[in-house]
Parts: sequence; structure tokens; C-alpha cells
Amino acid sequence: MSYSLEFFEKSAEFLRKNAPFQPETAVILGSCLGPFAREIQDPVTVPYRDIPNFLLSTVESHAGELIFGTVAGRKVVCMSGRFHSYEGYSFEQLVIPIRVLKRLGVRAVLLTNAAGAVNPAYQPGDVMVIADHIKLNGNSPLRGPNEEAFGPRFFDVSRMYTPALRRLALERAADVPELRVHEGTYLFFPGPQFETPAEIRAARILGGDAVGMSTVTEALTAAHCGLPLLGLSVLTNMAAGVLDQPLSAGEVDETAQRVAAPFSRYVQSLIKAIGEEFFA
Ligand code: HPA
Repeated sequence: MSYSLEFFEKSAEFLRKNAPFQPETAVILGSCLGPFAREIQDPVTVPYRDIPNFLLSTVESHAGELIFGTVAGRKVVCMSGRFHSYEGYSFEQLVIPIRVLKRLGVRAVLLTNAAGAVNPAYQPGDVMVIADHIKLNGNSPLRGPNEEAFGPRFFDVSRMYTPALRRLALERAADVPELRVHEGTYLFFPGPQFETPAEIRAARILGGDAVGMSTVTEALTAAHCGLPLLGLSVLTNMAAGVLDQPLSAGEVDETAQRVAAPFSRYVQSLIKAIGEEFFA
């Protein structure tokens, strides 16, 4: 399956008519990280089901709407609810949200996710700025005929997580002293099952610091169309087998709720800093 420029343009055209403004930064909220949405001033919501050609969220902890509003005085659009391959979407379908936001005119993307900590120096509740990722599973979302209007067939991903945004994220960590902020490598597993302890041992040998089931398709799509990108993982649990206990979705939710307030302040501080430093 592949889509023409007109396919994405149809969604973008609808949003141009229904959004209050052209947003500067798009924020994609990971599972359980929804509380940030409450910090958005003067919100205007657009349910995914109203947007032509858009996807529908099937995960309960994901709301399924775009929220336009301001954060620290900057115009943002927030995807409250994201799409994962484990929901049954093909990797090719997962280009849709980022390409629509690109057509809408966003200038930077901030991806957040909940992830399991592989690096034994990390603790549940810490945050990892994504320096790079490893994706050994699944296709590329850019498979199929290339749409040159977005980017070239073969494209560089050696600076996919924009170095200047990573630097900013590490600097601004000082604004939220309750959070321990690391920088590391995100290793993608497709889920929906959590990983086996053997997979986590392999992840560590391969150089992964955290594991998760999202983000990489959006990151690759953003890189293809030249969008500056920052990725943040909230480490909700130690990955399978790191501790001698089973993993549970309950633990993931609990930690996400515990860090929701400081993480939300961190994201607000980053939106402000990104706006002031790059889009003044
Ligand atoms: N593995 C994969 N995805 C996750 C995890 C995990 O341990 N925790 C939160 N999302």
C-alpha cells in the first residue's frame, strides 16, 4: 500500500479549514502520557474520525484526537493517541500522521513514548532523550513507491534525532530537577507482548538502552521529509528479566502517572525553548 500526495493533502486541507492556526511544533503523546494535553491553552480538538484519510486509535489509553492550542505561548498541535503496528496497521500506513502534519506546515516534531529500561543505570521514572534507534523488526514505513514531494528514495538518517534539539533537551533538563534525564539508544520491538528476558539480553548486547513499541516509524517519516525531530522516552519499568519479576501494564501506567506532572513541565519547557531558539 502506498499513498499519493493528494491522499495526505485531503487530510491537511480539512485541517487547514478546521484548525485555529498553523502550528509550529507537533507533539505526539505516548501511552499513558496523556495528562500533558491538559496543559494546552485555548484547546481546539479535532477527533481523528472526522479527518478524511486519517487512522483511528484502537488503544484504550489513547484518546484519538488532535489538539490545537498554545503551550508557553507557542502554537502547537498535539496528537493525543498514536498508531502502532501491533494494532494491525501496516508500517506503510504509519506514515500518515507525520505526513499530514508536514503538509499542515509543522516545523518540528516532538515524539514521546513509554519504554522499558534496558540500561541497568536507569530507574523507572527516569527520562531518556533518544540519541538514535535500532529497528531490526518490520518493514520501513517508506517502503513502496517513493513520493518525491516528501523526500528522496534513499535518505540519510545519521542525524535523524536532531543534534541541536537533543542538546537543548539535555540543557533544559535543569528546569525539572525531579527528573533524571539520560541520553541513549531506543530499540524497537513490535509488541504487543512485552519482550522476553532473552530478547532484552540481546538488546543490551546490541547497544539498546531502552525498548518500546512505537516512535521509529514516525521518526523515519519525519527524517524522510526533513522535519527536525526530538524523541523522549519515559522509562516506566525495568525491561523484562532485568528484575526478577513479571512485567505488567499496570506498572507501566503507575509510573507514567507518577511522572506525568514533571514530565509535562519538561515538555512545556522544551516547546518554549524550541520556539525561542529555532522559530523566534
Ligand atoms: N517494552 C516495550 N514497550 C514498553 C515497555 C517495555 O518494557 N514499557 C513501556 N512500553
